[in-house]
Amino acid sequence: MAVVDTLREIRERVESELAAISSSAELDTLRVKVLGKKGELTALLKGMGQVAPEDRPKVGAQINEVRQWLTEKMDEAQSRIQAAEREAAIKAETIDVTEPRALPKVGSAHPITLVMDELIECFTGMGFDVMEGPEVELDHYNFELMNLPKNHPARDAQDTFYMDDNIVLRTHTSPMQARAMLTRPLPIRIICPGRVYRADEVDATHSPVFHQMEGLVIDEHVKMSDLRGTLEAFAKKLYGEGTTTRFRPSFFPFTEPSAEVDMTCVACHGKGCSICKGTGWIEVLGSGMVHPHVLEMCGIDSTKYSGFAFGIGLERIAMQRYGIRDMRLLYEGDARLFSQLR
Ligand code: DAH
Repeated sequence: MAVVDTLREIRERVESELAAISSSAELDTLRVKVLGKKGELTALLKGMGQVAPEDRPKVGAQINEVRQWLTEKMDEAQSRIQAAEREAAIKAETIDVTEPRALPKVGSAHPITLVMDELIECFTGMGFDVMEGPEVELDHYNFELMNLPKNHPARDAQDTFYMDDNIVLRTHTSPMQARAMLTRPLPIRIICPGRVYRADEVDATHSPVFHQMEGLVIDEHVKMSDLRGTLEAFAKKLYGEGTTTRFRPSFFPFTEPSAEVDMTCVACHGKGCSICKGTGWIEVLGSGMVHPHVLEMCGIDSTKYSGFAFGIGLERIAMQRYGIRDMRLLYEGDARLFSQLR
């Protein structure tokens, strides 16, 4: 093939290839293939020996002309491709500052913690101190000083986790009453939140580990009306102004008299619904006037001092507040449930 024809063939081929190229890498490959040291044009120059001597200047000029033309075309293609590549890169990196940002996932406190914090705030607001104590407790505090004598049914091994004959997992927060009376100066005004343990099977309303908050007030002239007033204020703070309390006579060995305290059902405001089983009331806590014998066992003169105590179950309040029907949900730690609370 005559050199001119080869040159034309190269020109046409490169021109159409250039039109199809869209990346710098492809362009580099083509450039090397045509214009490189081992490229097609160089090969043509090297083959000049075959050309008749009189034709060489003309053919040489033709080759150079095509080389220049190709170089220009490749430079043009390079600018086009680079501009496109830059634009694509900018597009890929663009941040739309007006786009609403995805909110970071924030966890929430456990419902029991939320309720506990709220109760602590409520009672500290009324002047109570927070006092915490051991979950592994001496029988002496858990039962003996709470006026639960050795043969009391609550001391049955079916209800209580015994570590040994003298050590139990506390079955209630009430032993903190004794710990407070034995260590604190009078008057006493404390709440004691924490875990308690009972040898119960797990079901929708029972768990071997649950939470209580004990309250204790000891001073001169403390009366049952002080207990009522305190719990009434607590009920209103917890569930709103429309809430009230109802005291029902009850029995606890460490209080006399004792009362079970109900609050207006928050779901129906006292009208009666499925949550309060039609009564309009929800049972929230046990309470009473500290038994004189308990005062005396803890070294307090019961002729001079009196007091009241109460024990609130936190699970029930949390379940009611957040509409949780099954207690087990509280301990499964499913973030889908807890992230809805706040
Ligand atoms: N300790 C009781 C329980 O676990 C609750 C209780 C009742 C605590 C009456 C009190 C109280 O302080 O006065 O069931």
